[in-house]
Order: sequence, then structure tokens, then C-alpha cells
Amino acid sequence: MESTTTYNNTVVRQFSIMTIVWGVVGMGVGVLIAAQLIWPALNFDVPWLSYGRLRPLHTNAVIFAFGGSALFATSYWVVQRTCQTPLFAPKLASFTFWGWQTVIVLAAITLPLGITQGKEYAELEWPIALLIAVVWVSYAVVFFGTIVQRKVKHIYVANWFYGAFILAVAMLHIVNNLAIPVSLTKSYPVYAGAVDAMVQWWYGHNAVGFFLTAGFLGMMYYFVPKQANRPIYSYRLSIVHFWALISIYMWAGPHHLHYTALPEWAQSLGMVFSLVLLAPSWGGMINGIMTLSGAWYKLRTDPILKFLIVSLSFYGMATFEGPMMSIKTVNALSHYTDWTIGHVHAGAMGWVAFITFGAMYFLIPRLFGRETMHSVKAIEWHFWIATLGVVLYISAMWIAGVMQGLMWRAVNEDGTLTYTFTESLVATYPYYMVRLLGGILFFAGMLIMAWNVWMTARPAREAVPARTATQEA
Ligand code: HEM
Ligand code: HEM
Repeated sequence: MESTTTYNNTVVRQFSIMTIVWGVVGMGVGVLIAAQLIWPALNFDVPWLSYGRLRPLHTNAVIFAFGGSALFATSYWVVQRTCQTPLFAPKLASFTFWGWQTVIVLAAITLPLGITQGKEYAELEWPIALLIAVVWVSYAVVFFGTIVQRKVKHIYVANWFYGAFILAVAMLHIVNNLAIPVSLTKSYPVYAGAVDAMVQWWYGHNAVGFFLTAGFLGMMYYFVPKQANRPIYSYRLSIVHFWALISIYMWAGPHHLHYTALPEWAQSLGMVFSLVLLAPSWGGMINGIMTLSGAWYKLRTDPILKFLIVSLSFYGMATFEGPMMSIKTVNALSHYTDWTIGHVHAGAMGWVAFITFGAMYFLIPRLFGRETMHSVKAIEWHFWIATLGVVLYISAMWIAGVMQGLMWRAVNEDGTLTYTFTESLVATYPYYMVRLLGGILFFAGMLIMAWNVWMTARPAREAVPARTATQEA
């Protein structure tokens, strides 16, 4: 559909470019820490290169810098087109870009210095956490302001998911970061003991549910139908799975705290909600994949569609595996092992990164006034290298994880342990090598993408007006 509305593409373009930049940085650090697990000497005895400091740098860079920039870029693109109105408060939108990049740079400085709250995925100390809250509230104002001034009555389902993601992350971030500062770089949480753990994993699990899932489902609901050039399979299913997903996710957090000081009933409740979560998750996956029904042939020739559809398969895989791992007896085996790491990366690389790659390949040519990406062949290469990479990564971790779990629980007839911990570590090395190889391949795909984006954006710089451009809806 053609539209004459002048949309704000500047901020979308900025966030899209930074998605690629942070993808390279975050995955590069991922490869380094994967190598450090095999050769610890790769920390060169420099404290800020040590594994314990670089690991949170990796998770923050890939989730909040790479994933976050992609979510900002796509939500700003989608909300304007589906509401047929330019972004509300463009200056505030620009502030969200610069504010978010400042947060990331501060994270990249403080984490290697060892400045951390010690809460996973919420490591950043209170001054940075405050800046995040300000940027996030501004994001909510821009996004919902745009919805309010929409020119169409209907609010397209992608915006429901983006909206839920924005609201939930604001709430999670603020509640989990309530802390008492004792200096500029140190604070203590207001919660203590098991309550602190529960709040942290209520946050942690919903960071998965809303940051790594609901936001990316918003992406799915716009870019899959767009790229396939077909309407979404079932609008009704999208609404049912939206409400089911957001109401169930909130209660599943305790599955991160099985067999801990958390009351038994809370653990079981978390398990039950996690099992139920399979249904809405698969509802979303089926809705996305079935959008292609009758047009499967498009997959043969369109590498962007391949990224989008394969991401949904990984989403389905991770959301089948997650409920299984939340069963207490299964978790007794999987917890603390590399199985969890395999699960994480099936979701993070297979789902989150793949759908981001697909959405970015859709956006970049449009943002820089080009018909297509510089090289469609390079997208195809990226797809196959990345697929091989993620498959190697997750299968190595699955095998390693189950092996570790079994070795740790093996006992001799006299009740002593069959294996020492070191023996299980030695047995894991070959799998760490395979994971490193998978990671290098995935990273190589990211580099190919960066080159392709550079080549696509370069000549267009003179051709496209710097601030805004009229694009198709
Ligand atoms: C080149 C690609 C990647 C490589 C080589 C890589 C490598 C690693 C390594 C070695 C760890 C630490 C594992 C451990 O402690 O045993 C890790 C953790 C993690 N990575 Fe990645 N990663 C990559 C991509 C990604 C992406 C794209 C995301 C998210 C979008 C991601 C999210 C995470 C998360 C959330 C953790 C923490 C998992 C946990 O605590 O259970 N990674 N990664
Ligand atoms: C129905 C959906 C899902 C359920 C029920 C679920 C369940 C679980 C369970 C039981 C664990 C292990 C907890 C432990 O033993 O410590 C886990 C870990 C994790 N999952 Fe999922 N999962 C789901 C989907 C996903 C998806 C789609 C992603 C990524 C996009 C993801 C990312 C993670 C991460 C990052 C962790 C590691 C958390 C940590 O640092 O310990 N999960 N999940």
C-alpha cells in the first residue's frame, strides 16, 4: 500500500546500523569467552579480560545492545506504518537513541572494570539503571504517543506485542533495580534472601518472556507477512496467543529456582505455569509458519524468508525444551549444566538473532533507498553459515549438558561419587571445541552481514535525503 505520510526514518536507520555494530561486538566477545573456557590463558592475566567480567559483557551486548537496538528500530518502523502517522515526539525518539547508546557504552566500560550489581541480566549499577529507566519511559511516550495519534482505527497486532514488551520491561526493570546506593558505583538491593532471588528471577524470566520473546514476536507479526506478501494466517489466533502468553509468562519465573530456599509450592507453581506456556508459544510459532501456507515455494529463493521461518522453528524448539526443563525432575539433571546454555542459545541465536537478521535485511535497503541488499548471495551464505553454526553450538551443549548431569549424579555401590568434577570437565573439552567452531561460524555470518550492510548503505548516502524519506507502508 502506498502512503504519502512522511515517516521518521532517521532514528530507525541509526538503530539499525547500531544493531549490526553491536551484533559484531557482542558475538565477537561470545567467541572470545567460548575460547577462554578452553584456554583460560586467553585472559592474558588482565583483570578486565577475565571470563567473569567478559561474560556479562557478552550477555548485555547481545541482549540489550544488539537485540535492544533491533527492537527500537523495528518498533519505530512498524508503529509508524501500521498507524499511518509519523513518530510522536521525534526529538524524544532521538533522545532514546543517544540515551540507549550511552547506556551501552557505560556498560562496556563498567562491566570489564568489575562494577556490577551481581544480578544476572541486571548487572548495571544504579546510575546506569536510572538512565535506562529514563530512556525506557521516553520510549514508552514515543511509542504509545504514536499509537494515540494513529490515522487508522485498528491497532495492528504487532503493536500489541511491542506495547506489552515496553510496559512489562519498564515494570520489571524498575522493581528489580530498587536498591540503596552506598557510593557512585555500589548499591545493595532493598530485598534480601529468598525474596531477592525471587524478584531477580521474576525479572530474569520475564526479560526472556518480554524482551527476548514478546518484542520479537512483534517483529514476527510485521516482517513475516510483509516478506511473504501474505496476510497473517489467523488474526484470531494472534489475539488469543497474545493474552495467553503475557498472562502466563509472569508466573513461570520460579523454574529458575528449583531446589533452592524458595518455598516448595512456589517452585511447583512456576513449573505448572511453564508447562502451560508451551501452548501460547506454539500458537505464535504456528501462526507465523502457517502464514507461508500455499507459498512454501518462496522459501527456495528468498533467503530473508529463510531467516524468518527458520527463526520460528528455533522458537518452537526452545519453547518446547523450556517447559521440559522446568519439570523438577528434569531440572535436577539439567540445572548447572551446559544443557541450559544450549537451551539459551537455541532461543538466542536461533530465534532472536535469526529473526533480527531477517528483519534487518528487509529494512536496510529500504532505509538507504536501495531496491535490495548489495548482495543477495551473501544473505544466502550468511543463512547457511549461521544455521550450521547454531546447530553445532546447541547440539554440542546438549550432549555436554546431559553428560555432565549424568556424571555428577553417578555413584558407586559404596555411595561415593564415580567421577570427580575435574573428570567431567575434561570430558567436556571436545564439546567446548565444537561450540567454539559453531560460534566462529555464527560470528563469520555476522561479519558477512556487516560487509553487506556497509556496501548497501555506502552509495546511498548521497542519494537519500538525510532526515526523512517517504516509504511504502
Ligand atoms: C557467536 C555467537 C555466540 C557465542 C560464541 C556465544 C557464546 C557464549 C558463551 C561461551 C557463553 C557462556 C556460557 C557459560 O557460561 O558456560 C554465553 C552465554 C550467554 N549468551 Fe551467548 N554466544 C553467542 C551468541 C549469543 C546471542 C546472539 C545471544 C542473545 C541474543 C546470546 C545470549 C547469551 C546468554 C543470555 C548467555 C547466558 C546464559 C546463562 O547464563 O545461562 N549469545 N554465550
Ligand atoms: C515456554 C517457554 C520457555 C520456558 C518454559 C523456559 C524454561 C526455562 C528453564 C526451565 C530454564 C532453566 C532454568 C535453570 O535450570 O536455571 C531456562 C533457562 C533460560 N532460558 Fe528458557 N524457557 C523458555 C523459552 C526461552 C526462550 C524463547 C529463550 C530465549 C530467547 C529462553 C532463554 C533462557 C535463558 C537466557 C535461560 C538462562 C537463564 C539463566 O541465566 O540461568 N528461554 N528456561
